[in-house]
Amino acid sequence: MPDATTSPNPDASAPNPHLAAYAARGLKGRIFSGVQPTGNLHLGNYLGAIRNFARLQNDYDCIYCVVDQHAITLWQDPKELSAQTREIASAFLAAGVDGSKHIIFNQSMVPGHAQLAWVFNCVARMGWMSRMTQFKEKAGKDRENVSLGLFAYPALMAADILLYKATHVPVGEDQKQHLELTRDIAIKFNNDFAVPDFFPVTEPLIFGATTRVMSLRDGTKKMSKSDPSDYSRINLTDDADAIAQKIRRAKTDPLPMPETLEDAEKRPDADNLLGIYAALADQEKEAVVAAFAGKQFSEFKAALTELAVAKLGPIGAEMQRLMKDPGHVDGILRNGAERARALAAPILDEVYRTVGFLKP
Ligand code: TRP
Repeated sequence: MPDATTSPNPDASAPNPHLAAYAARGLKGRIFSGVQPTGNLHLGNYLGAIRNFARLQNDYDCIYCVVDQHAITLWQDPKELSAQTREIASAFLAAGVDGSKHIIFNQSMVPGHAQLAWVFNCVARMGWMSRMTQFKEKAGKDRENVSLGLFAYPALMAADILLYKATHVPVGEDQKQHLELTRDIAIKFNNDFAVPDFFPVTEPLIFGATTRVMSLRDGTKKMSKSDPSDYSRINLTDDADAIAQKIRRAKTDPLPMPETLEDAEKRPDADNLLGIYAALADQEKEAVVAAFAGKQFSEFKAALTELAVAKLGPIGAEMQRLMKDPGHVDGILRNGAERARALAAPILDEVYRTVGFLKP
């Protein structure tokens, strides 16, 4: 549900006729999600997003995008941008997304994203954009000096989603506000041009408690690619030794393992490790707390290491393998982009006609 305090449009919480219409026609919903090719992928990206991408494949038609155009809202080294675009695509594949049944591509290969974003730049209001907390955080005190693209970022994200009339968007907690903005843009476009229900009012899919994986060095801070200490995170490409070392060094407190969920929640470092264990094991955190209640951290850490290596090791190895074969990955991206362009073309045509642009 959109939060009334952040959504500029109270209508955004109205029931969604599109979803019912979809189901009534016996169609699967359409998923769109994007990941930025900036910095290495870590456990937080995996548990919060990429793992879920694979799990949604049976129930939805999925479009997974490496959002290279979003990445350049902050300066990126061109060589690294290309390498990281392939790395994210490799992670999608290694996590089990089937690029032949679903679509994996990079955003800049489909011009419709930028084209629709321009229309949305003219639909979204300055006031809405100014309230985006991610912009405020990223711009900080440097507001006069950040790129115009950083400010417009959420309108491009709305375009990503609505270019395909996606019905559901799996995202982490931190992207909820951008999803609400996407709904507001859809509703305003539909109203402004008197095309009721043209764009769907997209639903966010926010996954379980562990969408927020915290730093291994500080359980009150999010695990982040920009933390200077590599010991703060588990990278998806870490090998078994690196995973073991990082878990061994992970911060804990001097007490034995928490006895109850409430006790755990008061101890951020313990809570974070328990949450990671629960997510990797696909168990409720309460069950994990019960299994290790009162034990020493060393025993729990050994179990967590074994679990993490078993679950993440094969994904890291497959990513490494794919990254050595860029030709193969590029082929999947090009093929995905071709299918994405075909889905987008009639929708963008309709938008252009609706706005009153003459056909070329
Ligand atoms: N803004 C998202 C993030 O940083 C990435 C993104 C871009 C995205 N376009 C999207 C996510 C469309 C979901 C749908 O995580």
